[in-house]
Amino acid sequence: MRRALRLSLAFFAFAFAIATTCALAAGSDWAIYGGTSDGNRHSSLTQITKANVGKLAQAWSFPMEASGDAQTHPLAIDGVIYAYTPSLKVVALDGASGKQIWQFDSGVAGRGAQRGLTWWSAGKEKRLFASVMHFLYALDPATGKPIESFGENGRIDMRQNLSRDSAELYVSLTTPGVIYRDTIITGFRTAESAPAAPGDIRAFDVRTGKLRWAFRTIPKPGDGGYESWPPDAWKSVGGANAWAGMVVDHKRGIVFAPTGSAVDDFYGAQRLGNNFYANSLLALDANTGKRLWHFQGVRHDIFDRDFPSPPVLMRLRHQGRIVDAVAQPTKQGFLFVLDRVTGKPLFPVEDMPVPPSNVPGETAASSQPMSRKPAPFARQHLTEDMLTNRTPQANAWALSQFRTFHNDGPFAPMRLGQQTVAFPGFDGGAEWGGSAADPARGILYINANDIAWTGGLSDAATAGGPGAIAYQANCAVCHGQDRSGAPPAFPGLIDIGKRLNAQQITEVIHTGRGRMPGFANLQGDTLKALLEFLITGKDDAQQREVTGNAPSKYRFTGYRKFLDPDGYPAVAQPWGTLNAIDLNTGEYLWKIALGEYPELAAQGLTNTGSENYGGPILTQSGLLFIGATVYDKKLRAFDAGNGKLLWQATLPFAGTATPITYSAGGQQFVLIHTSNARDKKAPQGSAYVAFALPR
Ligand code: HEC
Repeated sequence: MRRALRLSLAFFAFAFAIATTCALAAGSDWAIYGGTSDGNRHSSLTQITKANVGKLAQAWSFPMEASGDAQTHPLAIDGVIYAYTPSLKVVALDGASGKQIWQFDSGVAGRGAQRGLTWWSAGKEKRLFASVMHFLYALDPATGKPIESFGENGRIDMRQNLSRDSAELYVSLTTPGVIYRDTIITGFRTAESAPAAPGDIRAFDVRTGKLRWAFRTIPKPGDGGYESWPPDAWKSVGGANAWAGMVVDHKRGIVFAPTGSAVDDFYGAQRLGNNFYANSLLALDANTGKRLWHFQGVRHDIFDRDFPSPPVLMRLRHQGRIVDAVAQPTKQGFLFVLDRVTGKPLFPVEDMPVPPSNVPGETAASSQPMSRKPAPFARQHLTEDMLTNRTPQANAWALSQFRTFHNDGPFAPMRLGQQTVAFPGFDGGAEWGGSAADPARGILYINANDIAWTGGLSDAATAGGPGAIAYQANCAVCHGQDRSGAPPAFPGLIDIGKRLNAQQITEVIHTGRGRMPGFANLQGDTLKALLEFLITGKDDAQQREVTGNAPSKYRFTGYRKFLDPDGYPAVAQPWGTLNAIDLNTGEYLWKIALGEYPELAAQGLTNTGSENYGGPILTQSGLLFIGATVYDKKLRAFDAGNGKLLWQATLPFAGTATPITYSAGGQQFVLIHTSNARDKKAPQGSAYVAFALPR
């Protein structure tokens, strides 16, 4: 009795401590990318409940042009939605009706992932920060017009003021910056092959656009971490960029920035060493940009294992102590849970020996940190008994393929001339959609892909003229050495001249598309030769028997999903999951398959899980909303307590983005960006779609 009483008192004291000091949930607004500055995607709204969610119905939709990957997680402020269209126009929509209030067309050609915007206000001053390719605009939220006093006529060029001249390189702010006081702190996306911009993390004055501080993720001589690179790497190596988004502890003045791998993604002979601060969670002083601590998740990454999601700030009860923590999901399916102040893991992280590389010039790290708790949320080591059992034929095919692969666990370096298994695949585990967290209970919710991909390396020396060389150096990694691609995810380019003209191809090359980064550096004669090569398939210099070398001695042979001949994942189900993990204890609360293939479901093969992109959100009423599934195109509501499906609706296109919830005109809405860009066989199109309870 007494013991129970004492325990429950302790529990109340704990709950009180949490309620009084945690950053709050989002309310009627969704004013920050990720819902709150903690990044917990949690809303205090309760109009939609477990009891009435079954009645949720489409309230409005805002249809847009077809092509373009939908990754936008919009903002909602005072009943107004701020979002992007696929061609990167910024739109303000009436949150209650979906009617357009204004549209901002920057005039800059842009495509590709644009995940959100940043809101800043102080007294009567209000600014909406939107990015189009390498430009960051400060817009007046009332009109959508640039605020002239910011930067040059309302915008700054993110390629300027980097630690190395990057004016000609691809720089794109794909995930919005975060606000700390009167600064906006940003990372950006770089090219994934050389030449690539250095991934500096920078703070700009929200009023003037002036650079306040910069942190070099690739340190120069004299800076900490410099010894983890070859002496001159800081002059030439790019990447190590914070593209996935950041969170801020405003009370302590700390910004948490996860970084990706250094360039090239799969061959690191030019950057031997551990490569700090690539693949690291950085805690920086938000006032100065000084490093407080870092936690590196992958040493000398030659696996493309970027930290793919923003971290989440949580208050946890760990071994009887209340700890302010930061949780960082990874592509390989780990969840690193660290003390926010010291950067020390709360659960055991073990240094495990990993296989060496046999590629000339390469030296893989001899060990890698592996999180022992929570257990990985995606499978780690593919074995024959884990291959597809959808049909006996698919299984036999998968087995014969699998036996030709190199397969040596989650840190197997790519082999020359042989496909190497990446499991989970290059798109995680976790992805850019992020995770949601219940701040009062310490539960983290995360969706994951759980399929295998393969990749390999080949000699990059290329016979041919400048067009063929430019193609092999920049494009072959995704579109194939012979331009046949790996459809549908990576289109073939053999007949591209029949589909697109030179100008259209140039636009794609310069601005990128979906998974394809832009190649702003391809200009002049090289561009001309590349276009000629793409359109005619010939390279006139071929007759001259020129042999050129790509910047890197070995080239990645392409991102290949391990699919069976019918196009389904060649590993056993589940192919995608949704997980609820108690981060106080590191134990799973529940785990379910997420998504289906409608045609398989019609044959009775239900609940397979499927590829999914875009994360979950939570409400105070105990609901979890998630779209994400590529093929069944559903928006679903689950009971966050037990993972029970309470409601689902089929969207016009796949909801491959993280939804938001907000209230407008007294009604609670759930809004999601939809597009079929990831399912090329489905009719193409995109729209924002909002749901509410019928009045
Ligand atoms: C990292 C992978 C990647 C690289 C590198 C890459 N692409 Fe792409 N590319 C893609 C993907 C994925 C698409 C389809 C995008 C979509 O529609 O969502 C695409 C689409 C295209 C298209 C449009 C195809 C069509 O049928 O409409 C062209 C043209 C193209 N790429 C050319 C190039 C060229 C030229 C290069 C090298 C300078 C290149 N790509 C480098 C991944 C890549």
